[in-house]
Amino acid sequence: MHKKISRWVKDKQQGRKRALVTAYDYPMARFAAAAGMHGVLVGDSLGMVVCGDQDTLNVTLEQMCYHTRMVQRGAGDCLVFADLPFGSYEKSPEQAWESAGALLRAGADVIKLEGGAEMTATVAFCAERGINICAHIGLTPQRVRQWGSFQRQGTSDAGAQRLQHEATALSAAGARFVVLEAVPDAVAARISREIEAVTIGIGAGPDTDAQVLVVHDLLGLEAESPPFARRYLEAGQQMQNALAHYVEDVGNGQFPPRRPH
Ligand code: KIV
Ligand code: NA
Repeated sequence: MHKKISRWVKDKQQGRKRALVTAYDYPMARFAAAAGMHGVLVGDSLGMVVCGDQDTLNVTLEQMCYHTRMVQRGAGDCLVFADLPFGSYEKSPEQAWESAGALLRAGADVIKLEGGAEMTATVAFCAERGINICAHIGLTPQRVRQWGSFQRQGTSDAGAQRLQHEATALSAAGARFVVLEAVPDAVAARISREIEAVTIGIGAGPDTDAQVLVVHDLLGLEAESPPFARRYLEAGQQMQNALAHYVEDVGNGQFPPRRPH
């Protein structure tokens, strides 16, 4: 097994929590790696937090490869996860394998795809052919236009049971990781106990094997964040203050300073 991934498996078995954050470029990957982050995810959330779209559906495979290359250069010892964007994997296992290959060549260690039971054949196909797969169930943002909004999943008994079955099937198909997004804490806890794959939670409570946050939420670069995110910094406000300071200094002649020669 991949040396870096075997650490995650061992940490799951021994109950040591791991932290991931999204990154979309070289400097953010470098900050994350220097901070001791265990993994960075080149998420297709970049369509929203970097490109300003309302959802992730416009992100292309080419864009994901472009950002993965930047992140990989700064990621150091972090495991690099990259998302397969909408339209690049759903048609067939072969399509997924080809798209995943492009992300691998761009420098990703683990390839993430959204979907449950309908994706198990694809996960098995890729896992048997040299690709580390991270599944993603619960709130899967690429389906937002079908659902109409970003809504929590697995809140009914039937929904919780479906998630449990899907997680089990994806893990059995060879997924090494499963992201659980916006599902009840108890559901995420139970899945994490019962499946072999390493679970990565977001809005899924404290009992998953790892946590992930969108870096723009964590650092306060988004105007608003979902309730489950914690803003460790208001970097957006600080950046705006610095920019305003510069505008003011240029206006009143404080910058640049006059030099004797
Ligand atoms: O794209 C993304 O940032 C993600 C995480 C929120 C899991 O998929
Ligand atoms: Na994503």
